[in-house]
Amino acid sequence: MPRAAAFPLARLHDSAGGTPIAAAVARPVADSRRCWLEAFAAVRAETERRAAPLSAEDQVVQSMPEASPAKWHRAHVTWFFEQFLLRAFAPSYRTFDERFAYLFNSYYVAAGPRQARPQRGLITRPGAAETTSYRAHVDAAVASLIETTSDGESVFPIVEIGLHHEQQHQELMLTDILHAFAQNATHPAYDANWQWPGGESEAGAEAGDMLIADIHTIGHDRQSFSFDNERPAHQVLLQPVRLSRALVTNGDWLEFMADGGYTTPGLWLSDGWATLEAQGWDAPGYWRHVDGAWFSMTLGGLRAVDPALPVCHVSYYEADAFARWAGKHLPSEAEWEVAARAGALDDAFGTVWQWTRSAYLPYPGYVAEPGALGEYNGKFMVNQMVLRGSSLATPAGHSRNTYRNFFYPSARWQFSGLRLAELER
Ligand SMILES: [Fe+2]
Repeated sequence: MPRAAAFPLARLHDSAGGTPIAAAVARPVADSRRCWLEAFAAVRAETERRAAPLSAEDQVVQSMPEASPAKWHRAHVTWFFEQFLLRAFAPSYRTFDERFAYLFNSYYVAAGPRQARPQRGLITRPGAAETTSYRAHVDAAVASLIETTSDGESVFPIVEIGLHHEQQHQELMLTDILHAFAQNATHPAYDANWQWPGGESEAGAEAGDMLIADIHTIGHDRQSFSFDNERPAHQVLLQPVRLSRALVTNGDWLEFMADGGYTTPGLWLSDGWATLEAQGWDAPGYWRHVDGAWFSMTLGGLRAVDPALPVCHVSYYEADAFARWAGKHLPSEAEWEVAARAGALDDAFGTVWQWTRSAYLPYPGYVAEPGALGEYNGKFMVNQMVLRGSSLATPAGHSRNTYRNFFYPSARWQFSGLRLAELER
């Protein structure tokens, strides 16, 4: 039976506690050892905190090929440190179990063969308890390496990317278990006390918009951590465009639905309409029509749809159709980033990822990292769309203006929403 959640999820994005990874960067070596130890312990503990409400049975379920079991996430992020850090830099490290590399490698072809993604839910062994032992074994070895290495210049950057990688999986642990729970007709709650995070928009206030144009620089300047797909910084030319300060709400979406949004092919991209027909979409993901009212499956179980809250669990196809219905368009990722840097977007972070109309492509001059870690981002740069911002499930300290998330246009199990843009005529 699931244990009660040990923490209020609404606080997940609260960065008031600081960002341990950032604190560890750019320190003198003696000082940085302590900072990296603290950062490592904090991020690893957050993963276990998120797993704590889940039973062993919850942890093994895989509800669709794209979603992974919680236990697999816990083990995979551990394998990442074992594969890319300990095997490379800790000669005396004793591998916990040689067979785990096959089970918990995700997509790193250069790191060897692996379990097919859709079959991750078939991995009943190791169990949840042995996975905990695996994590403890690797935790001790990484801590020892941080304390003793004479090659911090090589070791600490791998620790750093491993921690950012683990934070990405912390978010997926929640999106994936929500998808699993949504298949259960009893609507189990991950955390019965879960609440939507408080937004920045004032209720009833005019949302407004911001006009941007001209030449701007986007992308990461390498002054702190970034993934390779955020680089290099480069100039973009924007046509005059107005971006909405506010996110599209459930109330807006109910108007779209009432106006035939899901029954008007002319609003939809061809692939989007085909997906709508194949999937039977008539509302956002996880919405349920009960006794004449709309409810939505959330981390707190089934809740009434609140018209004032941002719409969530919509695909790119739905976001694009909504924008067309509204006579507007989705912002490009460059438009989004310029407006975010200017502080012109409410709820840019911590509520819902926001679809952009930008395909996920390499920036001009993009070069993937060398070696197996070069598979992290670059090989996925086709057929997916960029989302910007971050969501209520994104760990504290993991968000930034240049961050590029990406998913297939039909995906809607992430906490994904939208804001609108309009060309200035
Ligand atoms: Fe991963």
